Amino acid sequence: MHRSLIIDNSRIELEETDSTNAYLSQLIRDRPIAEGTVVVAHHQTSGRGQKGTQWYSTPNESLTFSLYLKPYFLPIDKQFLLNIAICNGISTCLKQYISHVKIKWPNDIFIDNKKCGGVLIENTISNGKLASSVIGLGLNLNQKTFPENLPHATSISMHTNRTYPIDTFLTNLCKYLDYSYRQLQEGKWEVLKETYLHNLLGIGCPQRFFDAIGVFTGIILGITPAGELIVQKGEKEVHYALKEIQFIF
Ligand code: BTN
Repeated sequence: MHRSLIIDNSRIELEETDSTNAYLSQLIRDRPIAEGTVVVAHHQTSGRGQKGTQWYSTPNESLTFSLYLKPYFLPIDKQFLLNIAICNGISTCLKQYISHVKIKWPNDIFIDNKKCGGVLIENTISNGKLASSVIGLGLNLNQKTFPENLPHATSISMHTNRTYPIDTFLTNLCKYLDYSYRQLQEGKWEVLKETYLHNLLGIGCPQRFFDAIGVFTGIILGITPAGELIVQKGEKEVHYALKEIQFIF
C-alpha cells in the first residue's frame, strides 16, 4: 500500500515575503511544524540565491517556495543525496513539459544552456545528524522576458508558449519531489545517483571550464560520494568542490 504523501501535506501561502527560506527557518524556530510543510509566496521581495546572490523573481510568474524536511536518517557525509533527490524530482517533473531539461551540477535546472530554476538547501545539523532541512526552490515558470543583466535565464513558458497556474504546478511538482524523497528514505541511493547522472548537463562531452588555473577543455565523468564534480582534465581526474570550477557556455 502507498503511504500518503509527506511533501505538501500542509501548505502556507503568503501574498508577499522577503524570502520563503527565511520565513520557514523562522517558523521552525518558533514552533513545531510538520515535516513536508511547504511555504509558497506569490511575491518574494528579497529571494536568496546560492553563494550569497539574490534570486530574481516576478509576482505571479515565478514559482518560489520552500520545503521543510527532516532527513535524520541520512548520514552527514551522504547529504549530497538530498540535493540529488530534489534535483531529480524537479527534472523528472519538468520533463513532462520539456524533454531536454538538464541538471547543471550541483543543483541548477537548465534548458538549452540557460537556467530556469535553482535550489538553495539550508541544513541544520544536531548531534551529528541532519536534523532539519529548508529546501528553497525558485522556478521561472511564466516569464516571457528577463532583464538584460540576466542573459542566461529562461522560463518554462518561453519554451512551451503556455502559461501555468502556479498552484496546480506546485501540487504536481510536489508529487515528484515526494517520490524522490521516498526513494531517499528507502535507501535507493544508487538509483537516485544514476538518475542524477543521466540528467547531468554535459556529462561525457568535451566542454569548456574555468578553474583556479585558467580555461580548459574537460569532460565531466561523474560525482564523488561527497558530491564533488569529477572532471577529466588532460591526463588527470580532478575533483572540484562548489566554487572551484565554472562552466563556460
Ligand atoms: C540559486 O541561486 O540557484 C538558488 C535559488 C533559490 C531560490 C529560491 S526561491 C524560494 C527560496 N527562497 C529563497 O530566498 N531562495 C529560494
